[in-house]
Amino acid sequence: MALLKILQYPDERLHTVADRVPEITANIRALTQDMAETMYAAPGIGLAATQVDVHVQVIVIDISETHDQLLVLINPEITARSGVSDYEEGCLSVPGVFGKIPRSERVTVEALDRNGAPFTLNAEGLLAVCIQHEMDHLLGKVFVEYWSRLKQSRLQAKFKKQRRTVI
Ligand code: NI
Repeated sequence: MALLKILQYPDERLHTVADRVPEITANIRALTQDMAETMYAAPGIGLAATQVDVHVQVIVIDISETHDQLLVLINPEITARSGVSDYEEGCLSVPGVFGKIPRSERVTVEALDRNGAPFTLNAEGLLAVCIQHEMDHLLGKVFVEYWSRLKQSRLQAKFKKQRRTVI
């Protein structure tokens, strides 16, 4: 297992669209383990492969406080959605930034687990929001990109300035 480096907004690689996983190989299983370890260490409740610069449709999520409810979603597809949610979202790729994004309150998602077995999950509340947030990453979209261009350019300026200060 290994900790992976998480890409930081506004890194252009976060805009890469992930490919479907054609086959669950040992490499894919190792990726899910490394992603889970990286998510728990951060700490965070969700991580998409896009964020560790691997552009395949793999997501790990664990919203439990005990960190023992790992959910692996490979090639996820939302097949039904309903309601409106208003959770404040954050992201490991955009540290310190939070905001509300329009999301569905409930989603039904079909995916493969880490062994390649298909499953269907009915999720609501925080879990539903998390699934939608991570699936956006696989499409190359970071949650702040729902905001206006002006708000985004202010945010980018802030992050670039922070980076200069650190160096
Ligand atoms: Ni994120």
